[in-house]
Amino acid sequence: EKGGWSSFMAKEISEQPEAVANTIRGRVVDEQVVLPELEGLDEVLTDIDRIIIIACGTASYSGLVGKYAIEKWARVPVEVELSHEFRYRDPVLSERTLVVSISQSGETMDTLMAVKYAIANGARTLSICNTQGATIARESDAVVYTHAGPEVAVASTKAFVAQITALYLFGLHLARLRGTVEQGRAAELVAELRAVPDKIAKVLESADEIDQLARWMSDSRAVLFLGRHVGYPIALEGALKLKELAYIHAEGFAAGELKHGPIALIEPGQPVFVVVPSPRDPGSLHSKVVSNIQEIRARGARVLAVAEEGDVAVLPFADEVIRIPLAAPLFEPLLTVVPLQLFAMSLATAKGLDVDQPRNLAKSVTVE
Ligand code: M6R
Repeated sequence: EKGGWSSFMAKEISEQPEAVANTIRGRVVDEQVVLPELEGLDEVLTDIDRIIIIACGTASYSGLVGKYAIEKWARVPVEVELSHEFRYRDPVLSERTLVVSISQSGETMDTLMAVKYAIANGARTLSICNTQGATIARESDAVVYTHAGPEVAVASTKAFVAQITALYLFGLHLARLRGTVEQGRAAELVAELRAVPDKIAKVLESADEIDQLARWMSDSRAVLFLGRHVGYPIALEGALKLKELAYIHAEGFAAGELKHGPIALIEPGQPVFVVVPSPRDPGSLHSKVVSNIQEIRARGARVLAVAEEGDVAVLPFADEVIRIPLAAPLFEPLLTVVPLQLFAMSLATAKGLDVDQPRNLAKSVTVE
């Protein structure tokens, strides 16, 4: 049951360090990722020339994060597509295409039908699933289970971080098979990943501070979320959480798109969450996002920055700064999503809404 928590969602958010640790457990041998469930697929995985990730909602955002990691490490092109779009557009598939479905429930009809379509059209299939023995898992050639434990709240939280973790593990498994990441580097990445659960626990300590912020903002009419690189899917996820829990209009944007349209939405007082990339990122995205913050601030936006500890560049321009511990840039989503989940939950609670069972939604969407 809820074990003393006010809601299943609060409990599940708090279980995220464990969800990530459990998903990693048993899958590292001599500091290298080995997924025993993919034993026997070595040849297939060495031979694929393309990966298509299919999923819906929050699961699709985990797929978007996975794309950055898998392409970086395994050097295989990855596309991410919504399941319900995929099978209606006559996609080009072959036996060298791996279709990876992601689903917490393993019963989402749109994703199940997309998997069946992929099989019928000659692709290989792998599913990332949280529910043991679910239909999607049974239909696929192979399954990598996330071990997040049962997720009861309609809004997905711990399953999301476990899905991202499973995608990182898959990316490193694939990189080992294909020889695209040198062993020493792979061991460093594994060590970084193993350090994530304690860092999530650290982020959870800011729950009270975020609760306060959400209470002040409970009459917001619209909230925008900006992110770049792996922070972009997290902006999308932060916006989805706020829509489904607090019924507030929310949109996530890639920060680089700002000038291409969304900046027109900025007026005095408009709250904007900005997921700030690490200043240690070699791609200099940090300074680009800091200039985005300056641009929106100059137009009156109220900036709520989610930034790494010690990042002082954001201080002069942000109204609020929520800190996350230092992590390798690709692993940051596992940390930056947490304050956004807490914010949506607290804001919904401040509005007196039922966070476990938002209106009009079902935990598992088993109709098309
Ligand atoms: O069970 P699934 O992971 O296949 O579900 C996919 C989406 O329906 C789900 O993530 C949905 O977007 C959640 N309500 C998000 O919180």
